[in-house]
Amino acid sequence: MKPFPIYAARGSGCRIWDVDGNEFIDCINNFTSLIHGHVQPSLTEAAVKQLALGTAFGMPTESEIILAELLASRLPSVEQLRFTNSGTEAVMMALKAARAHTGRPKIAKCEGAYHGSYDYAEVSLDSSPSDWGANTPVSVPYAKGTPANVLVDVVTIPFNDPEAAVSIIREHGAELAAVLVDPMPNRAGLVPAEKDYLAALRKATQEVGALLILDEVIAFRLGFRGAQGLWGIDPDLTTLGKVIGGGFPVGAVGGKAEFMAVFDPSSGKPLLPHGGTFSANPVTMRAGIAALELLDEAAFERLDQIGQAVRDSINTNFEEFGVPGCAVGRGSLLRVHFTDRHVRDYRSAYANPLETRRLGRFVATLLDHGVIAASTGLMALSLPMTDVDIDAINSACAAGVKAAASVS
Ligand SMILES: Cc1ncc(COP(=O)(O)O)c(C=O)c1O
Repeated sequence: MKPFPIYAARGSGCRIWDVDGNEFIDCINNFTSLIHGHVQPSLTEAAVKQLALGTAFGMPTESEIILAELLASRLPSVEQLRFTNSGTEAVMMALKAARAHTGRPKIAKCEGAYHGSYDYAEVSLDSSPSDWGANTPVSVPYAKGTPANVLVDVVTIPFNDPEAAVSIIREHGAELAAVLVDPMPNRAGLVPAEKDYLAALRKATQEVGALLILDEVIAFRLGFRGAQGLWGIDPDLTTLGKVIGGGFPVGAVGGKAEFMAVFDPSSGKPLLPHGGTFSANPVTMRAGIAALELLDEAAFERLDQIGQAVRDSINTNFEEFGVPGCAVGRGSLLRVHFTDRHVRDYRSAYANPLETRRLGRFVATLLDHGVIAASTGLMALSLPMTDVDIDAINSACAAGVKAAASVS
């Protein structure tokens, strides 16, 4: 972070304090995972209680069953579930499960969408106009050292363009194990998927015999039944993480028993072995149970309400200060774009140098006004935020849009 990184000293509710004693309203919330804010008493109590009983065992505990059942009760598409230590691992295991089930090598993912650090999941994460291809997206490596074969086996599809995506899926259909999609991909702009888009992916995957993997590592925080409940989509596999660990490292892959069967070790070596020293550790599980128990329908109503209030307020600021821009997102998540383009996918969200400078000024001004947001303009709201906190966030955003308007 420029001009220097802020080191966190402690947090409480929706606030954090840095090592210099500065206080901020936290709109990063550990990149969306802290939906209950910091040091939520029930979550802390659940974790501390478990600390005294043991932090990790080389055998199952009751806590993983309780958390898995809680998740399955909310997500009808999830009949079986396995825990991992991160969202990255959850996505990796989902992709491997799709390959193991179908016996096919390729996966398709959306241009600009982030799914963690598995080589296959990070293809075309930060492609640019110089290398992303004219119309059909070209698969571009994200990290140096990505094996060339990864680019052969990952097909990049455009987000929110059903026709183009379906045509690519059909073209690679016979070799395609899965289509991986986040219904509101943050790095690709945080624009919600159009309903038709997800429906088209669902239909096309069924048609070619590939699995549809819904990445809800972030999007599960959008609704009581996750994003799949909101969008009315029935995925084959779902990946989870972030909020389901109650503030501790976590991930999970779940789905229909038919597809999860590749993990089944009950008759010897499974088709797809899956281990993990700290997977399903009971501290994470207990904190996760406490987190989910507090995430009832009323909690989501409140999150929707404050998210919409901040988006509406920022969108009014754009008109008021005469600078092009929009606040997009859904529920408790939002992202600001300093553009007059209609933002619907990675390419339309791709910021030019002026837009990047304006965003930088916006985020820096927020910081000066005691509100910390991600450098990309992502803001994640949390349940401990009161109406007074939301007013403070709105005032900081107004100052931020005003300051950005003067940037040329
Ligand atoms: C949609 C999505 N999938 C996967 C991941 C990876 O999760 P983790 O950081 O827990 O590895 C992230 C992380 O931000 C994410 O946003």
